[in-house]
Amino acid sequence: MSDIRFDDRVAIVTGAGGGLGRCHALELARRGAKVVVNDLGGSLDGTGGNSEAAEAVVKEIEALGGEAIANGSSVSDEAGVKKMIDDTMAKWGRIDIIIANAGILRDKSFSKMTQGDIDLVLDVHLRGTFMPVHAAWNIMKEQNFGRIVVTTSSTGLYGNFGQANYGAAKLGVVGMMNTLKIEGAKNNIKINAVCPIAATRMTQGLMPDEVLAQLKPEYVTPGVMNLVKDDAPSGMILSAGAGAFSMARIVETEGVFVGQGEGLSAEAVAAKWDQITDVATTKPAFQSGGEHGQNIFAAVAAGMKG
Ligand SMILES: NC(=O)c1ccc[n+]([C@@H]2O[C@H](COP(=O)([O-])OP(=O)(O)OC[C@H]3O[C@@H](n4cnc5c(N)ncnc54)[C@H](O)[C@@H]3O)[C@@H](O)[C@H]2O)c1
Repeated sequence: MSDIRFDDRVAIVTGAGGGLGRCHALELARRGAKVVVNDLGGSLDGTGGNSEAAEAVVKEIEALGGEAIANGSSVSDEAGVKKMIDDTMAKWGRIDIIIANAGILRDKSFSKMTQGDIDLVLDVHLRGTFMPVHAAWNIMKEQNFGRIVVTTSSTGLYGNFGQANYGAAKLGVVGMMNTLKIEGAKNNIKINAVCPIAATRMTQGLMPDEVLAQLKPEYVTPGVMNLVKDDAPSGMILSAGAGAFSMARIVETEGVFVGQGEGLSAEAVAAKWDQITDVATTKPAFQSGGEHGQNIFAAVAAGMKG
């Protein structure tokens, strides 16, 4: 198997001053990429900030013999993100890879969650993923090359107590990916999602120490390198933790035609509930909204025939 290399590639990693982002940035640099290390450097709940964390990782990359620049902007600050993109273009003239990784938490049960907790988490994770990707999109299109990773979470895919704000944002980035994989295809822009589990300040105290010891952030990064390599897939959700990797998918059952007009009622749907929800009929994941529509019309056609 050939080495995965990023020579002459320029990569931006957001939230790369610590945790998973730092590992991604270091590994990209080890494999030849020039790296923009972005980090606001604030606390876990999104308060405060300075560029020291990003600068420290730049020093680590330089100590490895790599090239990097620090950027202390918030990913949800439009002017700051524009400056990050402009500075990258001024320094290296291209943007090949974006790993949108920055994040914060404002966990609370829904009844205690304030509008501020909702807005800030959506701002950092959802707008903060859109903004750098959007600002670099036309550059990637012109280059006919782009590799993007968004960072989702088991909370977005499946749910976790106290994280309604975070879960909504984390599934939101998957929604963005699903469309950009289609829009980017003709310009060789590939976009994927990583669903990590790692011992960082985000998961401190959530699991016993012996479990956290297995969850080194370094054990997620090799999967992410496969999502940004030249022959990366597109539209994939890769789960990664403790050195184990799997693929997550959104799937639907085959479906059943209940009726139209007078034959269709709430009771008629209830009568077919077992067939509608029969997981034994689960279809392979659809690649676009169009395929979802075809599944519905296949059920209609089968029902009308039968
Ligand atoms: N650790 C896990 O198990 C886990 C699980 C699922 C998803 N994630 C996601 O992985 C990503 C990385 O998290 P982590 O575990 O390494 O946590 P972390 O707190 O160590 O890293 C997040 C980094 O993002 C930076 N950041 C926060 N707000 C920012 C902003 N507005 N602009 C720029 N930088 C900002 C922080 O300063 C921090 O360095 C996050 O998106 C997180 O939601 C982590």
